[in-house]
Amino acid sequence: MTRISEFARELIMKQIAFQQRRGEMGIVTIDSPPVNALGIGVRRALDTSIRQFKDDAAVKAIIVICGGRTFFAGADISEFGKEPESPLLSDVFNLIENAGKPVVAAVHGSALGGGMELALVCNYRVAVPSAKLGLPEVKLGLLPGAGGTQRLPRLVGPELALDLILSGRSIGANEALGLGIVDRIAREEALLDDAIDFVRSVLREDKPLARVRDRGDRTEPYKDRPEIFAAARAKAGKTARGFLAPENIIKAVEAAVTLPFDEGMTRERELFVELRESTQSAAQRYYFFAERQASKIPGLSADTPKLPIKRVGVIGAGTMGGGIAMNFLSAGIPVTLVEMTKEALDRGIGIIRSNYENSAKRGRLTTEQVNRYMALLTPSLDTDSLGDVDLVIEAVFERMDVKKSIFEKIDAVTKPGAVLATNTSFLDVNEIAAATRRPEFVVGLHFFSPANVMRLLEIVRGAKTSEQVMATVLGLSSTIKKVPVVSGVCYGFIANRIMNPRREQAEAVILEGTSPQDVDKALYDFGFPMGPFALMDLVGLDVVKRDEPYRTVKQDLLNAGRRGQKTKAGYYDYDDNRRASSSAVVAKIIADVAAERGIAQHAPLTQEELIGRLLYPVVNEGARILEEGIALRASDIDVACILGYAWPVFTGGPMFWADTVGLPTIVAELRKMAEQHGPGFEPANLLVQKAESGGRLTS
Ligand code: 3HC
Repeated sequence: MTRISEFARELIMKQIAFQQRRGEMGIVTIDSPPVNALGIGVRRALDTSIRQFKDDAAVKAIIVICGGRTFFAGADISEFGKEPESPLLSDVFNLIENAGKPVVAAVHGSALGGGMELALVCNYRVAVPSAKLGLPEVKLGLLPGAGGTQRLPRLVGPELALDLILSGRSIGANEALGLGIVDRIAREEALLDDAIDFVRSVLREDKPLARVRDRGDRTEPYKDRPEIFAAARAKAGKTARGFLAPENIIKAVEAAVTLPFDEGMTRERELFVELRESTQSAAQRYYFFAERQASKIPGLSADTPKLPIKRVGVIGAGTMGGGIAMNFLSAGIPVTLVEMTKEALDRGIGIIRSNYENSAKRGRLTTEQVNRYMALLTPSLDTDSLGDVDLVIEAVFERMDVKKSIFEKIDAVTKPGAVLATNTSFLDVNEIAAATRRPEFVVGLHFFSPANVMRLLEIVRGAKTSEQVMATVLGLSSTIKKVPVVSGVCYGFIANRIMNPRREQAEAVILEGTSPQDVDKALYDFGFPMGPFALMDLVGLDVVKRDEPYRTVKQDLLNAGRRGQKTKAGYYDYDDNRRASSSAVVAKIIADVAAERGIAQHAPLTQEELIGRLLYPVVNEGARILEEGIALRASDIDVACILGYAWPVFTGGPMFWADTVGLPTIVAELRKMAEQHGPGFEPANLLVQKAESGGRLTS
């Protein structure tokens, strides 16, 4: 354990903790930006402050409150994986719980993870109405490891505790009050004053100290009800397939019901440590920071002035354009939606309205919100109507000549300083920019379908795109609740380019003797929601069809009228309930295509061989994307794959996963594939370099 000098300790303490007395009240204010994470500095500050007030006989009660934007947002995630330093969270919590006088948590912002656990250790909790409380550890592949799994069930019962901990969702202060998690709601601007009032009333009542750990009334009735845990397991098996944390969470909450408190805490610790040491949790913690890192461009200062985006124009009211428009409407930004014909425009607007109305039916929006969003939408049949917009996003079909003529037109009609964006998935953004007189204002904004749902937004930086435009669209992405990943210009940008080899290899291996079912199963078991063939059947083979210079299985299937689920036949046969089964017709088509193309069929690849064959080329493409400077960092590639292609987050994305597999293994396997199947598999220089030097793709 690291020792620090008394002087340094004092200094850290002074910067983070502020102690004051108000009559009999000792108030500890912790202010450690940005989110008061319970890192070593905060733990030391808490430890010293609580100790002082505990030992001061004149102090009758202690209030713990935070400065800045939030209550404690949890343990410091960056400390996991490092040598733990004393005092540990459990030491601080023991101190609070055994202070011998009431300790009250005064909560604003978010009390998350260890932060909520700290509040549960206190004797009482006071919160402002806007405060949120939650145990989101599951999203980091963890469980609440500072007593959350033992105390929350004692407060709200194991069923609700399971729901909250397994989902990781936060609840508002008023809901928490109703559930007995919070004892008093304070006025928004008077948290400390109201907390003091509350504590005075507690002291006046002079009741024995209430400790959550001593409660048994909410857990006792569940001692003989193992079915609630079985139900939680069944649900988690479906909603969190492949994740390890849910099972340990269920076991820990079971322990809260069946074991005395201290034994339950020991069990929680074992289960927590098991998860903390797992590759899954390392991957999910890496992803937490990766997502936040993605919006930062090295060299682009955080105070680069942004252009005001008060009104947006979207060209194309198809599925993509409509979805893009919804992002802005939902953020309160007016949109002018332009189409070529009235029919197409009406159809597009109808879809937007029905999407919103469906959300209202599910209780996610109010009718008033739907009307407000729709009122922000101005339909138009003329690009001339875009004179007053600050940003135009073009979402028409993928043809360079069409895009260029649109950009020429919008360059002429929009005001100077308006940003012109293309939603192209593959085309050269620099060529599109060259069609305008303002290439520095041209950028790619590549949304993923459905654009109103998918969180990924690739921001394609053209050779001339200005820093101001980059800062503007990065800021805008957070306004519309997207996670931005910056890409350079290349065919397919990051997500589509890197995942293309998986499709190519899937289509290749079925010609070599492995069935589409085996391919889909291997990827499903790896953690993808479905394999490529099941996905193509779902989307429609006619939709994903591409022209190839040789005979393909897909084209033969289309020729046979097998367009996917909609025709009850694609790579699979489907019954009336859309249940898939293998098809003799497909097997014959595959064999015929292979024979015509002279591809020898051999024994099916094993699941392990399939993962290598399908995903090592993805890693290789990622390494090329990195060495070409298309991605700013390896973690951006992981974010793009996880959010754009549902790559399982518990593996960390292809780059992090490659590091866990071992780069020398991947290089050796790619070389074998290159010998068997051609030079396209040759490992990228960067991959070879890193493998030889014992390096990693991710940091
Ligand atoms: N540890 C370390 N850093 C953290 C952190 C944490 N718990 N929570 C946030 N940060 C950092 C972010 O990385 C970011 O850093 P950056 O500015 O350098 O990119 C900065 O704080 C601000 O975070 P956000 O950009 O996410 O700010 P928002 O205002 O959008 O959100 C928040 C604030 C809701 C608190 C959000 O940051 C969040 O959800 N944090 C994580 C909460 C969490 O998972 N807590 C559980 C931790 S595990 C735990 O407690 C284990 C325990 O049971 C033992």
